[in-house]
Amino acid sequence: MIKTAIYPGSFDPLTNGHLDIICRASKLFDKLIVAVGNNETKKPAFTVQERICLIEKAVNHTIKSYNVEVKHFDGLLADFAYKMGADCVIKGLRAMSDFEYEFQMALLNKSLNPDVETLFMMTNVSYSYVSSSAVKEIAKNGGNIDGLVPDSIKNDILKKLYSV
Ligand code: PNS
Repeated sequence: MIKTAIYPGSFDPLTNGHLDIICRASKLFDKLIVAVGNNETKKPAFTVQERICLIEKAVNHTIKSYNVEVKHFDGLLADFAYKMGADCVIKGLRAMSDFEYEFQMALLNKSLNPDVETLFMMTNVSYSYVSSSAVKEIAKNGGNIDGLVPDSIKNDILKKLYSV
């Protein structure tokens, strides 16, 4: 039986921390769906289509995993997981500060769709301080985002965020 996992997030934009989780999770499942959603509490800098293109470009350049699909979802993650026939939701944890929120989300998602497990993957220590918000702030102010985002999409991110 095919095992499918969903890796959801805003990915506004994708960072090296996200790509590392995609790479590692894609080796554990037959199919990994990177699900691009909108966090109700945040106003995204990139459109959904832009975020999907950046993820696809970085995945194709870097990990060449043919079992990774990128999709947009609206509404509840638990409903999307049901529609996709997913067994599992993957979440990355960078620090204890991520845990409280993610723990609540995992329990809520479990109550909405008991068939789906949430698995937490620890970040690669090299990326524990990297976040999309930090990337946006640095890029908007003309700082160096080398090493924070995949090389293949660095210029696309700077072009969108840094206008002199
Ligand atoms: O990158 P983020 O901010 O962690 O991504 C958050 C996202 C989009 C994965 C999250 O907001 C989400 O799952 N939204 C869908 C709505 C939902 O199912 N919420 C959980 C129950 S309240």
